[in-house]
Amino acid sequence: MGAALSISPADLGSAAFRRDHGVRYAYVAGGMYKGIASKELVVRMGRAGLLSFLGTGGLGLDRIESDVRFIQAALGPDGIHGVNFLAQLSNPELEEATAGLYLRMGITRVEAAAFLQVTPPLVRYRVTGLGRRADGTVETGHRILAKVSRPEVAQQFLSPPSPKILDALRSAGKISALQAELALSVPMADDVCVESDSGGHTDQGVAFVLIPGMIHLRNEIQSRYVFADQPRIGAAGGLGTPEAVAAAFLLGADFVLTGSINQCSVEAGTSDRVKDMLQAADVQDTAIAPAGDLFEMGAKIQVLRKGVFFPARANKLHDLYQRYPSWEAIDEKTRHQIESRYFGRTFADVFEETRRHYERALPEELARAERNPRQKMALVFRWYFIQSNRWAMSGDPAHQVDYQIQCGPALGAFNRWVRGTPLENWRSRHVDDMAERLMTGAARVLAERLESFQSPAGAADS
Ligand SMILES: Cc1cc2nc3c(=O)[nH]c(=O)nc-3n(C[C@H](O)[C@H](O)[C@H](O)COP(=O)(O)O)c2cc1C
Repeated sequence: MGAALSISPADLGSAAFRRDHGVRYAYVAGGMYKGIASKELVVRMGRAGLLSFLGTGGLGLDRIESDVRFIQAALGPDGIHGVNFLAQLSNPELEEATAGLYLRMGITRVEAAAFLQVTPPLVRYRVTGLGRRADGTVETGHRILAKVSRPEVAQQFLSPPSPKILDALRSAGKISALQAELALSVPMADDVCVESDSGGHTDQGVAFVLIPGMIHLRNEIQSRYVFADQPRIGAAGGLGTPEAVAAAFLLGADFVLTGSINQCSVEAGTSDRVKDMLQAADVQDTAIAPAGDLFEMGAKIQVLRKGVFFPARANKLHDLYQRYPSWEAIDEKTRHQIESRYFGRTFADVFEETRRHYERALPEELARAERNPRQKMALVFRWYFIQSNRWAMSGDPAHQVDYQIQCGPALGAFNRWVRGTPLENWRSRHVDDMAERLMTGAARVLAERLESFQSPAGAADS
């Protein structure tokens, strides 16, 4: 039965979000590293009047530059697009160079992720976009959508940048005195996206807990600063069906952001073999594994489990790293198993290859590994994470069991939803069409549910 109540997908979420980003829907396709969120994906979304972020993580600056040029040429400089901006905990120079590139290329929207705290390069990006309009209001030329899963990080993005960072940037001539002053009247981010249990890096948060909690936090901070435009709160993690999207909006989300489902689409920059595997995933086919890039810190990622040994092997490597002070301290049987099954080569060979790379890229890291046997083991184990990702993205048939495919349960839910329709096959899945269906479906679900809660006229009297 169709609902009599009518809700338009274009009315879901925040009107200010749609206005500020010039989009049709309060819907975003999030960045996915190494161009999995590809330039084609961003162009396709932009042409449909929807926002998405190029997956710049792990790409060299030259590649990012050429991808952005491609997008800007296809959509025009004012076309709707953004790029991912990953925190670089162990490489602040790279973070600074990335901010510089984005400023040079006239990028007006970034999706900031993995920040444990707001850093000077990110403040520089934000603040160099500030100006005063003729009517005295502040113009925010550089928009930040920050992805967070913890309140202490959200708090920093919901507040103005720290005066200490502003002073340092001003003294270094990177921002003007006026910009430093204006910065105190705006929050660091226009949009704060709460990431619950998601594909890729995850703290496995629960949306029912996090979204209301972050909205309360935003309200508290807003009542203190009284920003002209209060930062918006969005929802990511687990969104793969109209029902889930509807629930996010009912919880108070100003916008929604998807990830995992977009990796299984025509536009995603990964191998067909990976997309075939993703298409067969159900809701329980994911697992938690250590993150290769933050291996020593114990950060976690969510990955596809079905048909691969990657999560089990990755967890085993992390376990060994935690338990043993060096590779040599591990028993011989286990070492042999890892060399023959996981690596397909000896520990020494992997270290040699790794050494050649680090000598050029990060010599300090290499020096640390040569001094510290546990660190050396971490460097070699991290090689497996890099390779497992490359094998997946290139679709190497010889290494299918080792594919590292970051993905959350949202995809399994999406797969179930579209079963028996043309979208069952990923070759019919286009990111803008998936957005359209999810938003239209969410509007319908909301109308039906809200209507079902209303008592029939006169029922209260009987
Ligand atoms: C394969 C993959 C790669 C990702 N890479 C990044 C990334 O480089 N930067 C980032 O901010 N988020 C990244 N994400 C997270 C997504 O942008 C998005 O926030 C998340 O996937 C939403 O949750 P969902 O997977 O449950 O939809 C990635 C997610 C996936 C599935």
